[in-house]
Amino acid sequence: MSTHIDAKMGDYADVVLLPGDPLRAKYIAENFLDNVKQVNSVRNAFGYTGEYKGHRVSVQGSGMGIPSMSIYINELVKFFGVKTIIRVGSCGAIAPDVHLRDVILAQGSSTDSAVTMNTFGPGFHYAPLADFKLLDTAYHVAGKLGIDTKVGDIFAADRFYNDELDMQKLRDYGILGTEMESAGLYLLGAKLHFRALSVLTVSDLIFGDEKTTAEEREKTFNDMINISLETAIA
Ligand code: HPA
Repeated sequence: MSTHIDAKMGDYADVVLLPGDPLRAKYIAENFLDNVKQVNSVRNAFGYTGEYKGHRVSVQGSGMGIPSMSIYINELVKFFGVKTIIRVGSCGAIAPDVHLRDVILAQGSSTDSAVTMNTFGPGFHYAPLADFKLLDTAYHVAGKLGIDTKVGDIFAADRFYNDELDMQKLRDYGILGTEMESAGLYLLGAKLHFRALSVLTVSDLIFGDEKTTAEEREKTFNDMINISLETAIA
């Protein structure tokens, strides 16, 4: 076991889907995987391993934000040998052509988190990127499933509530949406040599107040899960 994961080497598959919400991990395990075994419950950060179309796949809740997610990623990779991590999360839309329930494949992730600066020092701005092969696979898998995706740069915010941030500027520079994890995922992918991709569903609008119903959110969430699982086994 590691500090935050009460499992044994071999309990996790090589590929892990990583939602922020542990209850989404449970939902994915119960509705999309066969022969499921729960492999973690420490701090209610639920983890499961099962099979998708005969391939072993795990799903692990990461909590919100880069600090929490980084704990699970470090332990999954260093103690349980995980090779591929696909984040399945939600985001707020920033770009004008990104709408509620759209699925975004985060090609890169800008951030105001200190993780990149604390890694490289002041003055150097590292560009955290997705694994291209995973990204390419997800893009084509989505096309085959008939699901439109938006691909580009997103913004991983250090704070959910941040009145000082100039969202209009991010919009002007083509940022598609905002969440709180992807820059940390991609930075760790580069450092620890695992393949990383973020697949995101738009759950809210930064410039607007249109809302989705619970049913609509579930349907779109399922699109994101299907893209991610098909990418995981491709
Ligand atoms: N901001 C940050 N993180 C998010 C958002 C948001 O609007 N929506 C979903 N995750």
